[in-house]
This record gives sequence, structure tokens and C-alpha cells, in this order.
Amino acid sequence: MSKLHHEPLHADFGARVDGVDLSADVTGSLAEDILGLIDTYSFLCFPAQSMNDEALLAFTRALGEPEPEHVTLGRTGKTVYFGTVGNVSDDGTKKGNAHPNTKYQTGNQLWHADSSFRERPCSVTITHAHEVPGEGGATEFVSTRAAYARLPKDMRETIEPLKVIHDYVFSRSQVAPVDPAHAASLPPVAHRLVRKNPGTGARNYYVGSHTRSVVGWGGVESRTLIDDLMARATRREDILAHQWRAGDTVIWDNRCLLHRGTPYDANRWRRRMRQTRVAGIETGSLPG
Ligand code: OGA
Ligand code: MN
Repeated sequence: MSKLHHEPLHADFGARVDGVDLSADVTGSLAEDILGLIDTYSFLCFPAQSMNDEALLAFTRALGEPEPEHVTLGRTGKTVYFGTVGNVSDDGTKKGNAHPNTKYQTGNQLWHADSSFRERPCSVTITHAHEVPGEGGATEFVSTRAAYARLPKDMRETIEPLKVIHDYVFSRSQVAPVDPAHAASLPPVAHRLVRKNPGTGARNYYVGSHTRSVVGWGGVESRTLIDDLMARATRREDILAHQWRAGDTVIWDNRCLLHRGTPYDANRWRRRMRQTRVAGIETGSLPG
């Protein structure tokens, strides 16, 4: 059992962890302890952290290999490890509701797992909240591990051998056309529908807004199965809604959780969160 003081947040998953300063040197044993908590709880909130970018990147490296942020990589070929979530520019100015970037980010209001559309999806996302809206802008989470556990046996058997196509251009075209260089950098990828946590063997299923189809299935059957799995995972009563507070550092496990943003009034409020991701160890394949 972890030495870190933690309180569960939801029946299925999630914990709040107190009494640790993540901006201090995170040693090997503390990192192991945190990785163990992630494997158990999938979502960890560390309140009242003082995390600048340098500390966030150092913490990310303590947990694994930082994942290059895909938008900058795809558009420019440059590797940066940070994403900014919310409506505040680097120069501190606020972008309102009509700003293209605010609109682009509404794509995150569809249930998804971060970077599931990459050949090697990330394991976890780490987000530190600097400024948060006084109203709205919660992020909601559900567990596809818990949803898998609720499936009837015959359905578990049906989905066990399947692969699904995750496709960023498919999902994001619903919001806005994807920049051509960015689109070319992210060809559709096939992933096992049923995944296992590499440490514990716990199973879950891997769907979300980026999931386009089931490999080898017809379009209608494919959509029906994906929609059914989505509906089973995202029942209202199974949602953990995280209302951000400035100073929260939150880690979520994209291998087995789905999340979505919820609206806030960007004309009225400032929301600024800095984000990194840890590269996963499992790879999918290009559908042949
Ligand atoms: C993300 C994300 C939703 C939100 O940061 O990966 O999907 O609440 N965010 O903005
Ligand atoms: Mn996301």
C-alpha cells in the first residue's frame, strides 16, 4: 500500500493525495509510489502545488519519457513538451469565446483519451492549473476499466480480439478542418480494443471521440458497437467531475479513462493550465 496520504474520490477510481510537494526533487521511490497509485486509482489530484513549467517538466521526467506535443510537432516539426489548456495566451491576454483557439478547444468537450490517435499513445497526462474560472470549466472523467468490469460476459468475449481505428482527423473535423501538415503527421492507427494495464493486468476497453471504426466490421455495425461501449462507459452516475482550483496538479491515466471538458464563459473568465504527457510503452499499428 502506498505511503502517500490519499483519499478516494469516487466509487470506481480517483484519489486526492496530500502531503507531497511535487516541485521538490521527486526521487525514484516517490515516483514509484505515484506510478503505483496511478495503476490503482487512474486519476490523482495533488492540491495546492506550486508548479512552474520547469518543475512540471522535471516531475514529468520522473514518471517517464515526456511526449512531444502533437499540434506543434505536426504543424512545424518542432518538439515542445507543453500544451496550454484554456484561454490565456503566452503574453497573458485573454482569448474570448469567438477566438479560433477557444473554438478549437471545444473539441475536448467530446469524451476522449489523450493521444489515442498516435501510434504510441501516451500513458498519462499531467495538468497544472494556474488560473481557473469562477464558474464552469470542470473536467469530467469516467473509467473504461470499471465499464469493462460491468460488461456481460458474452460482450467481453466479442470485443476481446477486436482492433479499432483511432483517427484524429476524423474526430477533429467535427470542430474545424485540421491543418494539412498536422493531419499528415497523424495517419489513422489501429489499437487493440481491449487493453491491459502492463503492471497489474487489469483490463479495459479503448474507445473515445477519436475511435472511427472496428477493423474488419461494416460501418453501421462498427458505429453501433462503439456507440454502445461509449454509452456504457459514460453514464451520468459514473462521472467524476473535477472542478479545478488554482494550484491543482492532476494526473490522469489515458490508457483506461475518458475525459471531456465542460463549457465556461471565456469572455468572462480566465482559464490557464499547463500540461505535459508521458509517452506510453504500447504501440498500435497502421491498418494494412
Ligand atoms: C485536456 C482536455 C478538457 C478541458 O486537457 O486534455 O481534454 O477541461 N481538457 O479543457
Ligand atoms: Mn484531453
